[in-house]
Amino acid sequence: MKSLITFASISIFATIVTSQNSTYKRGLTDHFIQFLNLNKNYYPYNFNRTEFFGGSFGGKDNDTQPINKVPVVFVHGAADMVIGEEWANDGFRYDIEYFLQNGYTKAELYGSMWGFADLAGEYNLKHDTEYVIAIRRFLEAVLDYTGAAKIDVISHSMGVALSRAAIKGGKYLLRDIGYINLKPINKNVRTYIGIAGLSYGALVCTEAFYYDNFLGCNKFNGYYPGVLDKYNKVVNVSEFLNNLNKDKTKEGDQAYAILSLFDSPKTYNDKYNSAFPTMDMAFIFNSSEYDHVGVRDKTQEFQLRLLNSYHPSEIQETEFMFMTKSQGPKNVQDDEENEEEKQGNFLE
Ligand SMILES: *[C@@H]1O[C@H](CO)[C@@H](O)[C@H](O)[C@H]1NC(C)=O
Ligand SMILES: *[C@@H]1O[C@H](CO)[C@@H](O)[C@H](O)[C@H]1NC(C)=O
Ligand SMILES: *[C@@H]1O[C@H](CO)[C@@H](O)[C@H](O)[C@H]1NC(C)=O
Ligand SMILES: *[C@@H]1O[C@H](CO)[C@@H](O)[C@H](O)[C@H]1NC(C)=O
Ligand SMILES: *[C@@H]1O[C@H](CO)[C@@H](O)[C@H](O)[C@H]1NC(C)=O
Repeated sequence: MKSLITFASISIFATIVTSQNSTYKRGLTDHFIQFLNLNKNYYPYNFNRTEFFGGSFGGKDNDTQPINKVPVVFVHGAADMVIGEEWANDGFRYDIEYFLQNGYTKAELYGSMWGFADLAGEYNLKHDTEYVIAIRRFLEAVLDYTGAAKIDVISHSMGVALSRAAIKGGKYLLRDIGYINLKPINKNVRTYIGIAGLSYGALVCTEAFYYDNFLGCNKFNGYYPGVLDKYNKVVNVSEFLNNLNKDKTKEGDQAYAILSLFDSPKTYNDKYNSAFPTMDMAFIFNSSEYDHVGVRDKTQEFQLRLLNSYHPSEIQETEFMFMTKSQGPKNVQDDEENEEEKQGNFLE
């Protein structure tokens, strides 16, 4: 069932954002590093990313340390880190700290940085196949290392489209190599949560200044959102995003979007940009503290519930406000075959 839900009340899910907890150590454990070093599928990627303070997280201390939970892999956004130390590169630091305080161990929480935390170059970042593959191999490494049948994946911002691509697979152009085909690994993902993603591009990319000056706006693998044709239909969306949205492979057994009305969430035709066609539900926050990073950093308790104890029937109308069909997003304009199915599924 696909539906959109708005949070009428924010207090229920407000979580304690703790300060740096020095009892955990950043980076991958030596045990995990040793495992990676022995496997040629993994070691070329340098998943430890020790050149950055917050470049990675996760791993067991030794062979006997148990893994009792479905391991979680975090995929951060553009120019961010997995677990940095300040606003610009906190990544999933607050998630990791909250999860550690609520029953998870470092052996059950994983992340490895993609990119270079280059904030100045953020607008030039595009959905490069190198990033998709690095994220894909890290998901595989965690499955392989932990022996888990399934992992959970939580992503933010640009990490949403990249991780959706890594999980769904498909045909991607790898520079100097040519097109490569990745098989889907969605059967190995239990719950997928995409927070504040940009599934349909960035409207700003239609402005000549941005389109001409920033690689991130390109029509091949950038955020180009397309244009409205004379029928008000969106055409010429970035090929990467368009292919991703056309691919019906669901990102996990459950797939959820979390977004905020205070994170410029709309694209053409009033459509929610952080929703994605294969999701089961979108959870929409409607309060100013949930901005582009707030909607990631202040929703840990809810994320944990989505992963471990959530059932749609538990949703109380006192906690959530259901979107009506008229308030819901318009359908994917460039994906007409999906249209009827989707319209029928929005909760009234
Ligand atoms: C991996 O990163 C951690 C944290 O920065 C560091 O302590 C450790 O020495 C690194 N391991 C290797 C093999 O580089
Ligand atoms: C393995 O690691 C766990 C978790 O750190 C620890 O409690 C345990 O004592 C270690 N076992 C051995 C044999 O070192
Ligand atoms: C820091 O995290 C550890 C591991 O989860 C926890 O046991 C400890 O209580 C936390 N300390 C503080 C001050 O929050
Ligand atoms: C979409 O792109 C094609 C090929 O570049 C172009 O011919 C067409 O005019 C574009 N459509 C719109 C509405 O701009
Ligand atoms: C968001 O909250 C504002 C203020 O409470 C309210 O007026 C508005 O209707 C809400 N938006 C939605 C889509 O629920």
